[in-house]
Amino acid sequence: MTNDSGAEKRVAPALAYTDLREWIEEARKLGEVREASGLSWQQDIGMAAEVLLHDEKAPAVVFSDVPGTLKGSRVLVNFFGGKRAAMTLGFPTDMTKLELSEAFRVNYMADLKRVEPRYVNDGPVFENKITGDDIDVGIFPTPKWHEDDGGRYIGTGSFNVTRDPEEGWINCGTYRVMIHDKQTVGFYISPGKHGRIMRDKYEARGEPMPVAIVVGCDPMSFLMSSSEIPYGVCEYEVIGGIRGKPVDLVKAPITGLPVPADAEIVIEGFVMPGNMKPEGPFGEWFGYYGSDVRPEPVMDIKAIYHRNDPILLGCAPQRPPDEIARYRALTRSAIVRENIAKAGVPDVTAAWAHEIGTARLLLAVAIKQRYGGHAKQAGHVAAMCHSGAYAGRYVIVVDDDIDVSNLEEVMWAVLTRSDPATSIDIITNAWSTPLDPRIEPERKAKGDFTNSRAIIDACKPFHWKDKYPKVNQPSPEMRALARKKFGYLTE
Ligand SMILES: Cc1cc2nc3c(=O)[nH]c(=O)nc-3n(C[C@H](O)[C@H](O)[C@H](O)COP(=O)(O)O)c2cc1C
Repeated sequence: MTNDSGAEKRVAPALAYTDLREWIEEARKLGEVREASGLSWQQDIGMAAEVLLHDEKAPAVVFSDVPGTLKGSRVLVNFFGGKRAAMTLGFPTDMTKLELSEAFRVNYMADLKRVEPRYVNDGPVFENKITGDDIDVGIFPTPKWHEDDGGRYIGTGSFNVTRDPEEGWINCGTYRVMIHDKQTVGFYISPGKHGRIMRDKYEARGEPMPVAIVVGCDPMSFLMSSSEIPYGVCEYEVIGGIRGKPVDLVKAPITGLPVPADAEIVIEGFVMPGNMKPEGPFGEWFGYYGSDVRPEPVMDIKAIYHRNDPILLGCAPQRPPDEIARYRALTRSAIVRENIAKAGVPDVTAAWAHEIGTARLLLAVAIKQRYGGHAKQAGHVAAMCHSGAYAGRYVIVVDDDIDVSNLEEVMWAVLTRSDPATSIDIITNAWSTPLDPRIEPERKAKGDFTNSRAIIDACKPFHWKDKYPKVNQPSPEMRALARKKFGYLTE
């Protein structure tokens, strides 16, 4: 199978939704939304989510009437799956995952269109305003997602809005947010993330950091906030570029931070320098409780705004492959391929960030080899580019006859075209995270969160590739003919 199998299909994208409610309507039209009412946040929703998130064909589910929570409030899980995956990205629902990723790359990521957001004076998010002693972040149906979690995580399908205190630009980033009590939450940001760089700057200046947390946004805004958008670029502009129209924003009254006018719930407040509380543990995307409980910054909530009957977007990680792996594979594969090409590596024909490593730990890159060292160049750049650098482990470079999204084909290339003694390069002290389960506790205790990488060159060796034994496989024409003539034998 080649990488060109339909992946070159060009389709004009069109997002059929702007906010989360319109997205739900579109998903309903596809017959992929179910309702469940009366389940508990303490256990039931987390258990049900685990079943749904591991099943690509399962519907999205809206949980309502959660006992003990705000009347009318709801939580949506499993937005990315079935036909609605394509709808979410704005493409026809009959495309394969490779075609979708390629369409996402070509239409959105290749030249990263940006449209300035538009400020409006009011929006549905201000339908309800809670301040002062009335603030209680526990009223929403925030589940305890996994049985060993240290608390309720209201922020999973959410994003934090912060402003760089020196450069002034606005960042939107998805970071888990745990409820401490009625008026405080804690969030965890890994070293090196844009939101963390901003947080460290506030801390160094001894200044409070204003934060607005958007809980319940449209899925594309969530996807962009959790993707590697370049430093200094505001995600709202990228979302506007994808929509082809400006994102409507209102200023959160206390912090002045911009938030979507149609957000479901917004929490605003300040992180005071040095104010920390234990955060975690949380079932993380590696499939472990890797970072355990640590002191993390606390946000004092100054106001909560929410729409009538607000909907929380829930995206809790599970042991991979899961829902997060599904959407990250599509989006990150596209961004990694763009990053590699933009770093000047020619003839990258495909890239896939594999689901089993939640689209980070295993990258496969296909090239049409042009010169000696080309494969090494592609592998090292993939391992260290913006989208590939954080928490990677293995990068495998293959020739362009291999389908990079097919784990068996990739491993076949490793097994038959690499030579362990000479084909593997190791990079040490690379950018990882306290979440990484393979970093020794002693190093974590010292604040060393780096790991190592293997770059596996699984291409036919360039200097004798023309002498490499022929692949034991009929030509595409002969295969098609065989299927036509003898396919009946398999029925
Ligand atoms: C569901 C989900 C949860 C995430 N949680 C965290 C988190 O708790 N901390 C973190 O640093 N990154 C987390 N990420 C990854 C970041 O959102 C991602 O790396 C993003 O690009 C960071 O943006 P930034 O560089 O603008 O800060 C999460 C991603 C997803 C999809």
